[in-house]
Amino acid sequence: MKIELRSPIHDRASIEVPRAVSQLSKPFNGTICSKMGDEYPIQNNIIDLIREPENLSLAQSTNHWRVTASLYEDLWRKRSLSILSGEDFPIAKEQELLIKWVSPGAGKTYLDIGCSTALYARTLKKEAPDSDIIALDYSSQMLEEARLKAEADETDIYFIRADARNMPFFNKTFDGLVMGGTLNELTDELKVLFECRRIIKKNGVFFVMHLVRSETWYGRLFQDSTEWSGLKFWTVEESNELFNRADFMVEDQFVKGIVCFSKLRG
Ligand SMILES: C[S@@+](CC[C@H](N)C(=O)[O-])C[C@H]1O[C@@H](n2cnc3c(N)ncnc32)[C@H](O)[C@@H]1O
Repeated sequence: MKIELRSPIHDRASIEVPRAVSQLSKPFNGTICSKMGDEYPIQNNIIDLIREPENLSLAQSTNHWRVTASLYEDLWRKRSLSILSGEDFPIAKEQELLIKWVSPGAGKTYLDIGCSTALYARTLKKEAPDSDIIALDYSSQMLEEARLKAEADETDIYFIRADARNMPFFNKTFDGLVMGGTLNELTDELKVLFECRRIIKKNGVFFVMHLVRSETWYGRLFQDSTEWSGLKFWTVEESNELFNRADFMVEDQFVKGIVCFSKLRG
């Protein structure tokens, strides 16, 4: 199915995206245009809705380095949960939980927010090939790497470069949202959560994996020492308060070490 975006500068103007843009075996280059005439480039299937560069924290700017993007998934992501949870936590276990809680289905639409290399988006598409999956990030380098991985996996995904604080979607677009590890890096987490609430359908499911405040003194010392880079950590209670403030209900939750998985309901 073709998808419809909301213009980042004209709230009521839609932008139609042809299905061919998600078909990664065929490079797609061109432009798309809103009904108000604002135009955006598509380069190698990646739709770029960001016009202005902005000031980034250190943690955020590392995501815009080519080297981080190319090493991220194989070197860090596949091991990260075992390191952070303090026990063997293979990526397959995380993917299992993602599928169990989101339960993706044919004809439904899902969004991976701050996708990096789009591990979650690919997992959902493999499980439900007849769903529409959109993966959003504001790092071109991450999106380019994500595109390569998705093409290799034969998973057709729409890739969008946009800011999660101003989601380019109309209200109640998505059956489900997924966000892995991104919450800790956001400059304005509440604004992003409010945007998530706006674009999710009633009763839609929101899968969040994030890191919580360590309970050990040395863990807290380490987390405090990373704050200058822009990373933020909350306790589980504080995290749930954030979710509730954005009008999400915590339906299920699973904490291992400092890794917290939440199943939120819109
Ligand atoms: C920790 S990584 C995400 C990892 C990925 N979701 C996974 O499960 O492997 C955080 C990502 O969020 C992106 N990001 C941070 N703030 C963003 C924003 N305001 N809009 C869009 N992307 C953002 C970064 O570029 C980075 O790729």
